[in-house]
Amino acid sequence: ERQWVLMATGRSPTNIAVIKYWGKRDEALILPVNDSISVTLDPDHLSATTTVAASPSFPSDRMWLNGKEIELSGGRFQSCLREIRKRARDVEDEKKGIKIKKEDWEKLHVHIASYNNFPTAAGLASSAAGFACLVFTLGKLMNVNEDYGELSSIARQGSGSACRSIYGGFVKWCMGKNDNGSDSMAVQLVDESHWDDLVIIIAVVSSKQKETSSTSGMRGTVETSPLLQYRAQTVVPSRILKMEEAIKNRDFESFARLTCADSNQFHAVCLDTSPPIFYMNDTSHRIISLVEKWNHAEGTPQVAYTFDAGPNAVLIARNRKTAALLLQRLLYCFPPQDNDLESYMLGDKSILSD
Ligand code: PMV
Repeated sequence: ERQWVLMATGRSPTNIAVIKYWGKRDEALILPVNDSISVTLDPDHLSATTTVAASPSFPSDRMWLNGKEIELSGGRFQSCLREIRKRARDVEDEKKGIKIKKEDWEKLHVHIASYNNFPTAAGLASSAAGFACLVFTLGKLMNVNEDYGELSSIARQGSGSACRSIYGGFVKWCMGKNDNGSDSMAVQLVDESHWDDLVIIIAVVSSKQKETSSTSGMRGTVETSPLLQYRAQTVVPSRILKMEEAIKNRDFESFARLTCADSNQFHAVCLDTSPPIFYMNDTSHRIISLVEKWNHAEGTPQVAYTFDAGPNAVLIARNRKTAALLLQRLLYCFPPQDNDLESYMLGDKSILSD
């Protein structure tokens, strides 16, 4: 039999939550305890690029991450692969003379190679970009016909936050009501052109891998934090509505207040967990103080901060002029050391010359 390989490549950026997802009501299906809202980054800086290939000559499914082979046995990869395979359709490539019937996809194995265009060790969320890209690219290869909502629901089963990276711009993950997860998916609130004055600066505080994974951290919080219930049931629902309004109206003042408050409450529920989880460190706290003092002195917020499951700061400036000032202040207060140069060089330094 003649051998062939069919390939598809895709790229997805990572996203940063401004109203955080923290806590699952169903661990296997990855169903959250509250809605969340995020902003998807520009693919040039923090994204995953994935190539998937299928061939009758592949004896098993295999995957490489940044050139190193990784175990595919983890349930999350298998869930995404299974869900896409279920929806696979006929594929015909006349030029190559390839004809695949939809039932053939069950027997065809895939090889997956994924690269992050940022140092994986930098402790920056990479699973969001990775799983969104995997699902999207597999979907392309297997000619699935599902809409983006359905794809986001499949990416969710790889990593919760991945469901939001299917779209650009501002995105909301609706927690859904169903037990089977069919309505737990992401929707785009506005596309990337809606609020393009915003500038996002990521300050890499530590490039060490985080000590508590989001999976075990969330489990601990759900099991032990009395504050989480109050957050999920009372605080987040009204914050989501206010955040949607702020984004729609490009109201930076409300946006910044909500973003900072939500990051702080997320870290408060981590502290309320037994044993407590500390994701931020002294440098993170100093960055918060710097921004709070600056915003207070201006009388109205200029910069918002948010921190995920690690000490690195994500800073959102209201425009390029503010971003240039912010970068100067950060470099003055935290002069880069030699070994920081790589992360320092990652950004768009043209901001400094504005
Ligand atoms: O999807 P995960 O398991 O990587 O969890 C992400 C959790 C946070 O980044 C802290 C918050 C969020 O909404 O992205």
